[in-house]
Amino acid sequence: MSNIWIVGNGAREQAIKAACEKSLLSKSVKLITESECRDFLKTPSDTQKTDLVIFGPEQPICDGLVDEVQQIGIKCIGVNKKFSQLESSKLLAKKFIVTHGIKCAKLLPIESNEFPQVMKFDGLCKGKGVKVLYNNEEKNVFARKFTGMRYFIEEYLEGDEISVMSYLYSGRLINFRPARDFKRLSKEKDAPNTGGMGAYTPVKLTEEQQIKLQIYLKKLETALLQEGADFNGFIYSGLIWTRGDWYVLEYNVRLGDPECQAILTNLKNDFLDILLNGTEPEYHEGVGACLTIAAKGYPDTPIKGDEIILPEDSSVDVYFAGVKEKDGKLYSDGGRVLSLCTNSENPFLTLKNYADKIRMEHKYFRKDIDI
Ligand code: AMP
Ligand code: GLY
Repeated sequence: MSNIWIVGNGAREQAIKAACEKSLLSKSVKLITESECRDFLKTPSDTQKTDLVIFGPEQPICDGLVDEVQQIGIKCIGVNKKFSQLESSKLLAKKFIVTHGIKCAKLLPIESNEFPQVMKFDGLCKGKGVKVLYNNEEKNVFARKFTGMRYFIEEYLEGDEISVMSYLYSGRLINFRPARDFKRLSKEKDAPNTGGMGAYTPVKLTEEQQIKLQIYLKKLETALLQEGADFNGFIYSGLIWTRGDWYVLEYNVRLGDPECQAILTNLKNDFLDILLNGTEPEYHEGVGACLTIAAKGYPDTPIKGDEIILPEDSSVDVYFAGVKEKDGKLYSDGGRVLSLCTNSENPFLTLKNYADKIRMEHKYFRKDIDI
């Protein structure tokens, strides 16, 4: 039985908390912030307070907090600092990919005039450091977005994307079923990228896609082990199907948000048993899905402070992403406000119906997304 701390406070972490609370292996579960975790490190006499720390977002992971907590003898689930560079440096990730014979978009000269092309900043940019460019004017504007940060240009690939989350446990990869997230704010091609407006799992794949996916995941496992990966933590592969194979678009060193919520909604067995004992995931029938309720103005200038009144419906799990509670009432307090989750044959129908009934003045969600 474990006392579990989860670092982070978004909808993904709320969903992880709910999954841990359901587990027979947990005694208590609470969310803590990165700075609470740092304060804890200063008072090592407190080590009996927690048996396990699970890391949600990339920032504390890339800051090396997993290594620091482990150093005082506490079990962690999270990628160590060395391997966190797979997310924090897209150039290092490219080197890793190419070294291990995995496919990815090829680099183009910075001054390339071959459009469309993709510009990527080489650092943590909260999902805003990548843009598909269609002309030089866009290129010049985007190049100034994160001044001082290195960037590179790569070829544009066209195809269907999936997110595959894997858990490295005792030297082997346990892979969750593929999920799909909806990154753009609306269905328009030039709509801004967001932290994810919804997600579902499983994704229907052809037999060839499934075979190639298994080959890719084996290569990833071998690559991680050859490079000496010895943490227990999550690796997220953003993959695109093109030229008859899976190409890596990005690595993240955590569970995706909102893909994590979709996976955990669909998961049948005990999540903590997977994390602590390396059991294989099992799933419910149907599709696990998640719909993001955002605030109008998101991602750049979300309107905050609306009162939120939620309908009663026990078939939908609601996780708070940007919500403040005051005097027993709920208020929107961020761009991404709520994460709605359910598992069924037609989950987005249920989620959109629920979303329609939420009272919140500046509510925004994608009505077009579906499985
Ligand atoms: P990333 O953060 O690298 O996954 O990029 C965010 C999104 O940009 C991806 O999910 C893709 O939709 C798109 N993207 C990134 N790289 C490429 C590429 N080489 N070709 C086409 N689209 C890309
Ligand atoms: N949904 C993509 C991410 O978490 O980065």
